[in-house]
Amino acid sequence: MRTTLGDLRKKRAAGRKISMLTCYEAAYAQVMDAAGVDALLVGDSLGMVVQGRDSTLPVTVQDIAYHMANLARGSRQAFLLADMPFGSYQEGPAQALRNAVVLMQAGAQMVKLEGGQELAETVGLLVRSGIPVCGHIGLMPSHVNALGGFRVQGKGEEEARRIVEDAQALEAAGAALVVIEAVPDPVARQVCQAAPALMTIGIGASAACDGQVLVVHDMLGLNDKPAKFVKDYLAAVAPGPGAIRRAFEAYAQEVASGAFPAADHVYGLSGEALSTLYGSAKASR
Ligand code: KIV
Repeated sequence: MRTTLGDLRKKRAAGRKISMLTCYEAAYAQVMDAAGVDALLVGDSLGMVVQGRDSTLPVTVQDIAYHMANLARGSRQAFLLADMPFGSYQEGPAQALRNAVVLMQAGAQMVKLEGGQELAETVGLLVRSGIPVCGHIGLMPSHVNALGGFRVQGKGEEEARRIVEDAQALEAAGAALVVIEAVPDPVARQVCQAAPALMTIGIGASAACDGQVLVVHDMLGLNDKPAKFVKDYLAAVAPGPGAIRRAFEAYAQEVASGAFPAADHVYGLSGEALSTLYGSAKASR
């Protein structure tokens, strides 16, 4: 039976952590499903790790819908999320609804949008239209040009406050989940406390989040210069037949037990930089 949003809520209420991975194709979806990964995301990271681009910006709704249909065919249990790519919702609620419908019709159970307070109206319309929403705050890769590069967000007081307020705005608008990416651990913890109705999914955020997500290429060691928040699970399991399935199992188990992320995988309030993100083949050339 396919995991529902209600199942994720029950899991969280029982104090159990949610494991999520990005996924783009049916064979991987099948193996992740069998390994017990709770949720699969067609991320716009596919622009970098699948298409070999420098950023996520060129990804289209049609690209995401194509990969989402692969996941819907390949998996039976995992909860399925689709990223709304750059340019698919910035014009406002009506454009967002039109594009979210395409992704839901391709098999998504929830859509994910990068942004916070500025999306309140859009999130509200999607939720009222029966489309569950996941926000994405902190480092928003589609904002890379405005940010001047991929960097940890929320180190300063002002930025940290903005991230917390973004989470509260998403919560008030009816979002059910939020991905918190590349923010210092104390700021991620503040978000978890300040927006208690939101299920929080961390990536370079905090073990205090309700769940964790990684880009599959990163956790299988395909990135030469992984960010601090990445753990190479393929390197952590014994080589040989079934190693990829065992890497997914190890990830799901470590998220469930709270062993991942360890202190090494999260950021403090100062000092550390991000070198690359979602190390595409291109980034390491
Ligand atoms: O695009 C993506 O893969 C993502 C995850 C890293 C959360 O947004």
